Parts: sequence; structure tokens; C-alpha cells
Amino acid sequence: MLFCLCVLFMVTMKTSSVPTETFEGLALMDPHFQVYWKTNHSHITFELHVAAHGYVGFGLTANASGAMYPGDLILGYVSNNQSYFGDYHTTRHGQPILDASQDWFLLLATEDNDETVLKFTRAFNTQDKQDDIDITASRLRVHFSALAVYASFSPYLTFVTVQ
Ligand SMILES: *[C@@H]1O[C@H](CO)[C@@H](O)[C@H](O)[C@H]1NC(C)=O
Ligand SMILES: *[C@@H]1O[C@H](CO)[C@@H](O)[C@H](O)[C@H]1NC(C)=O
Ligand SMILES: *[C@@H]1O[C@H](CO)[C@@H](O)[C@H](O)[C@H]1NC(C)=O
Repeated sequence: MLFCLCVLFMVTMKTSSVPTETFEGLALMDPHFQVYWKTNHSHITFELHVAAHGYVGFGLTANASGAMYPGDLILGYVSNNQSYFGDYHTTRHGQPILDASQDWFLLLATEDNDETVLKFTRAFNTQDKQDDIDITASRLRVHFSALAVYASFSPYLTFVTVQ
């Protein structure tokens, strides 16, 4: 069901707004999907600017081929000033499954005519051994700088390889 909602594609939209604060990096996955990120010693914070309404998916895949599984992702949604946000995982090329332990935390969710903005944070090591993927800042930096290689399952469900 989520996947059906994900495929609305609005080619006329482009992200335009500036990030809510200064970030360490910008990974331009697609003109329609920008990922700002920053880290401290324990956490990574992302801010997505996505030129779409409806569900937005973003996650990490431990699969070196860049496949969406095994993956650790969020799905978020903003509509009529209400937001939805959840920590999910994937075990196959199919609908993500809600984690029993919610370890990615929403900081901000907004929507305007042009885009959806989701800002969220998680610990590098979340303690959810079952469904989350541990990450390291150095690995992410490497992969973000080579992001084109790993981009896009779809404009709305995008994975970064952390293996
Ligand atoms: C690291 O970032 C997280 C998420 O923003 C925050 O909760 C935590 O307090 C920060 N740690 C330090 C030492 O600033
Ligand atoms: C990684 O993805 C490929 C498909 O591209 C799949 O065949 C393989 O089983 C996946 N690896 C794991 C560990 O799931
Ligand atoms: C959305 O929520 C914010 C904060 O709760 C409020 O200030 C704003 O007026 C609301 N906007 C709409 C369109 O309801």
C-alpha cells in the first residue's frame, strides 16, 4: 500500500528551499531529492528536501550491490499539518516493515507547494541489532561522496550503501 502511494512523480517540481541550519554535507541524489547531513560523535542528523508530496523514504542498505535489502529506512509523510514518521526495515524487494524498536527520531516535518522537508536523527549504533544497521561517519562520508553509484531505488525511496 505504501508503495502505491510512493510512485506519484511530479516532474515539474524542484526543491528550492534552504536548509534549516548549517550542515556538513549535501548529497544531491537527484534534483528532486536533496539530503543534507551532519554528525557529532554519536549521532547523524539528516534533513531531506524532496520535491514531492506523499510518502518519502530514505534509508541505508547493507547490500553492497545497492539493493534495498537488507535495509534500514524511514518513511515520512506530511499532510494538512499532520506528520507521520516511522523507522522501518527491508528484508526483500518489497514493502518496508515497521521496526518493533523505533530508533530514528523526527525533528521537523513540513510541506509547502514545492516540497516536503523531513529532519531526523539517529545514533550511529542504535542498539536495535535486529532491524537497524550500524553506521560510521567515515563510511557515510565515503559513500556520500560517491553517491551517484548508490542512488535511487525510486525518487521517493532512496538508499545509501553503508557496507
Ligand atoms: C549529538 O547529536 C544528537 C542528535 O542531535 C544530540 O541528541 C546529542 O545531544 C548530541 N551530542 C552531543 C555531545 O552534542
Ligand atoms: C543483495 O541484493 C541482491 C540483489 O541485487 C540479492 O541477490 C542479494 O541476496 C542481496 N544480499 C543480501 C545479503 O540480502
Ligand atoms: C500548522 O501548525 C502550526 C503549529 O502547530 C501552526 O502554527 C500553523 O498555523 C498550522 N498551519 C495550518 C495551515 O493549519
